[in-house]
Amino acid sequence: MSAQRRTFRIMRGGGPAGSPAALQTYSLELNEHATVLDALEWIRVEQAPDLMYRHSCHHGSCGTCGMMINGKPKLACLTKVDNLASNDIKLEPLVGMEPLGDLVVSPVALMSAYPDNSGYIRESEVNNDAPRPQALSQFERFENCIECGLCMAACPVDEEFQGPAVLAALNRELAKTPERRAEILHAAGRPDGVYRCARALECSRVCPTAVYPAKHIMELRKELEKESSAK
Ligand code: SF4
Ligand code: FES
Repeated sequence: MSAQRRTFRIMRGGGPAGSPAALQTYSLELNEHATVLDALEWIRVEQAPDLMYRHSCHHGSCGTCGMMINGKPKLACLTKVDNLASNDIKLEPLVGMEPLGDLVVSPVALMSAYPDNSGYIRESEVNNDAPRPQALSQFERFENCIECGLCMAACPVDEEFQGPAVLAALNRELAKTPERRAEILHAAGRPDGVYRCARALECSRVCPTAVYPAKHIMELRKELEKESSAK
């Protein structure tokens, strides 16, 4: 297994109580399998015990390790260092979310913008032919969205905007609870709703779990157009 020396420039400080944000440089050897999150773990253990970043699952399902990696929103746990074009890797907190210090951002604004009573469970598309225990009416799974906020960071709209993750959640709710149609379309059609989308498609490009938020936004627009042509 060959190790290669890498340089990381990491935004330290910032946030409400911290020192002014500034890049600090760390250098370490990593093997070809290392992810950016692995690198952060080593830097914290060996060089910067006070380095702050969020993580939990290490495999792209908790949504906590989003950050700007060489200027692009990515999950640190799914980004292999070897796959980055540069040997000099810049890490900054995710844009569009309140910085709390080092690489940590607050998910509160994103989480609280999700539609009320969102269902995080949906019917599973696999195992449909498998024998089902009597107690279950269907096999279920979690929704694809892991609330990582990458789509919000990638979105170029710089006006008040509910944003791709929230609008995608609204469209999912519309499919699952058609009885809430009026309420959901009202939310989607607000001034900060689907019509503010610039159709840049960046949200769908960066989403690590194939939610395709731009597709959901387009579907909501179509539903809103149906409503206004029926009036
Ligand atoms: S839609 Fe995709 S990119 Fe946006 S928060 Fe959900 S998982 Fe993350
Ligand atoms: S650590 Fe859970 S998504 Fe990266």
